[in-house]
Amino acid sequence: MITRDEVIAALDRVLDPELHRSIVALGMVGTVEVDGSRVVITIKLTVAGCPLKAEIQRRVSEAVAVLPGVEGVQVGLDTMTDEERAGVRDSIIGGPRKDSPFDADSPTKVILVASGKGGVGKSSVTCNLAVAMAEAGYSVGLLDADVYGYSVPRMMGADRQPVMMDDLIIPVESHGVRLMSIGFMTADDNPVIWRGPMLHKALTSFVTEVFWDDPDVLLVDLPPGTGDVSLSLAGLLPAAHVVVVTTPQLTAQRVARRAAAMADRVELPVVGVIENMSWFIAPDTGARYEVFAGGGGAALAADIGVPLLGQVPLQSDVARAGDEGLPVVAARPDSAAAKELRIIATKVAGAVGLARATG
Ligand SMILES: Nc1ncnc2c1ncn2[C@@H]1O[C@H](COP(=O)(O)OP(=O)(O)OP(=O)(O)O)[C@@H](O)[C@H]1O
Ligand SMILES: [Mg+2]
Repeated sequence: MITRDEVIAALDRVLDPELHRSIVALGMVGTVEVDGSRVVITIKLTVAGCPLKAEIQRRVSEAVAVLPGVEGVQVGLDTMTDEERAGVRDSIIGGPRKDSPFDADSPTKVILVASGKGGVGKSSVTCNLAVAMAEAGYSVGLLDADVYGYSVPRMMGADRQPVMMDDLIIPVESHGVRLMSIGFMTADDNPVIWRGPMLHKALTSFVTEVFWDDPDVLLVDLPPGTGDVSLSLAGLLPAAHVVVVTTPQLTAQRVARRAAAMADRVELPVVGVIENMSWFIAPDTGARYEVFAGGGGAALAADIGVPLLGQVPLQSDVARAGDEGLPVVAARPDSAAAKELRIIATKVAGAVGLARATG
């Protein structure tokens, strides 16, 4: 005979997919009735219409179905009261909110990915580093700070709005990475027009009002160029490291030098350079072609006195995977670009002093 306590113990091992806490500890378990070999459970969702309700239901019924003596599980859904939800919010934050969860005492390594020029592949590189680090076992947040030309939601295949718990924004999780982007908040293709103070306010809320939950690493996709966003973020993320992405052309390298100068001005250390589109790999033959008069990455790295962390080939797999919403490291892990991006992720982790992944 199965007992109610055994069911509760099994449920205690079920984690909420976005809050990463036990559903029992979160108070999401409502009624549990055991009738012979049948178990009937009610789960209280934090918000009505929770986008992950099917996943939660699946986790709950799987966890209980495997218990010896159980022949049927029925999982009903209910929604928390405002009071219960406020309790969850307080319990996951655990104490008063800090001005920035990523201050100097924070355990999280923050990495700003910058470039001088647009279109060098900064967002592609950032998304791939995020997925590679998640696959390596780190807990990873990815903040899309490109409020003008956000592309992270598309590249990561995440197109739903984040769940709000009162004033707390729960990041959208995709491919094991917790994401926040202005793209979640605006209707498709609406141009976002920002004035300085609004921009600062939006970035501040992305840093302080999102339940990042102390990830091992927070990657930040900066907009191209050097501007207001970098200045705002430097204040909000005082312990951040900067990685600069460039292409091999010398013109691009000169512009990228400005991104390093910006980092200098806000006193954030540049830890390395990533060169993207370093050579072309033909999809049919796999032959390698030097498209650009090269050396930009190495020249930039030498110029600012940091290592060249790697060179990513120009390969149609990278673009295709981005369009499919699954970065190439996960979509085509054996491609040359994916292999190089995984090596770069390891080097970036080393450069910022990330401890070996335990997750
Ligand atoms: N190594 C690569 N091989 C092939 N295509 C790539 C590669 N890197 C990026 N791309 C493609 O180039 C285009 C620009 O890349 P991406 O959007 O990542 O650049 P960005 O620097 O973030 O641009 P923006 O300045 O618009 O933010 C995209 O279509 C992307 O798929
Ligand atoms: Mg971009």
